Amino acid sequence: MNPKMSASTVILIAMLTLPGMISAKGKSRLKGAGVTRENVGTVDGRGVDLYTLTNVHGLETKIMSYGGIVVSLRVPDRRGAFDDVVLGFDTLDTYVESTPYFGALIGRYGNRIGKGRFILNGVEYKLAINNGENSLHGGVKGFDKVIWNGRSRKTMNGPALELTYLSRDGEEGYPGNLSVKVIYTLTNHDELKIDYFATTDKDTVVNLTHHSYFNLAGEGNGDILNHRLSIAANYFTPVDAGSIPTGEFRNVKGTPFDFMGQATIGARINQDDEQLKLGNGYDHNFVLNGKTGQLQQVATVLEDTTGRMMEVWTTEPGMQFYTGNFLDGALTGKGGKVYQRRFGFCLETQHYPDSPNKPNFPSTVLRKGQRYRSTTSYRFMVRKTA
Ligand code: GLA
Repeated sequence: MNPKMSASTVILIAMLTLPGMISAKGKSRLKGAGVTRENVGTVDGRGVDLYTLTNVHGLETKIMSYGGIVVSLRVPDRRGAFDDVVLGFDTLDTYVESTPYFGALIGRYGNRIGKGRFILNGVEYKLAINNGENSLHGGVKGFDKVIWNGRSRKTMNGPALELTYLSRDGEEGYPGNLSVKVIYTLTNHDELKIDYFATTDKDTVVNLTHHSYFNLAGEGNGDILNHRLSIAANYFTPVDAGSIPTGEFRNVKGTPFDFMGQATIGARINQDDEQLKLGNGYDHNFVLNGKTGQLQQVATVLEDTTGRMMEVWTTEPGMQFYTGNFLDGALTGKGGKVYQRRFGFCLETQHYPDSPNKPNFPSTVLRKGQRYRSTTSYRFMVRKTA
């Protein structure tokens, strides 16, 4: 052993090499760009792999084949210091036991379907109920809890991971064998880009999204209330007591939902507002301005103390802005950090919740023979001056 190593260094190295560990803190070294793979355990007897994607600037993300979960995402601050900006756990087992969808791929239907029922082609489908009387994020065993087939790729754009999954006809109550492909690319423009593809052999509904909880000050480093946010949305979809949209499009003007200019997340979060009370904070779908199907910038987030900035780009018509209202200190995250209320925020690009029961919302029906296609990109940069 190197005699100059301090006791804490020894403990740190020992911790990093414990079997089953899937995340590592500490200053990230600039390694060669590319993708590496390691086995991190099994779920239901099947091996789970963890892929590490590193781009040319040293940004690094670790993604698991279980749930397509982004376990860590390390990006620099204005001084060039890297930190992990997504919430998560240290071990695969913790994810399997219970997680509020940290970093996961969500499907077959992101967010809620009211009463877990919908009618398609005159047939009523009954889905797995897992959120009050509703179906949330694909049901009891959504795409966040299945093992995807992984294949690493080196692209012109940067290192990538291709994940595929066949969701069987009837899974969680949904019709049709749905063949899904998701490609995560950590681009050399410092984006975590997510491309979604799907086809079905029977008409069905599809709404795929990604559920990272971000904290641009670094995961576990306090709440996200001082992050500055802007969202390009003149309208949002108000909800009822079960967080199901009422069907109304409400103008954000004069409400705490107006992020057309920049505002801190916390500035109005505790206002005496019926919708904020129903959501326990922000947990609402924003109706994005602009044209669906075209990749456009829809949100910007800035964290002043580190200078870290994130832009969200998407082809989707909506985005769920969720402020970690249900985190309550019960979960111990990476490195033993306790995640308190509002320690992370989610910007889940999507079609609107409960669209299968809302004829006035853009359709989420995927017909046999059609191709589902969606792209979202989280782009990282820094602001040099405070
Ligand atoms: C989504 C929902 C929230 C909550 C989180 C996970 O963002 O809209 O109500 O269920 O997922 O905890």
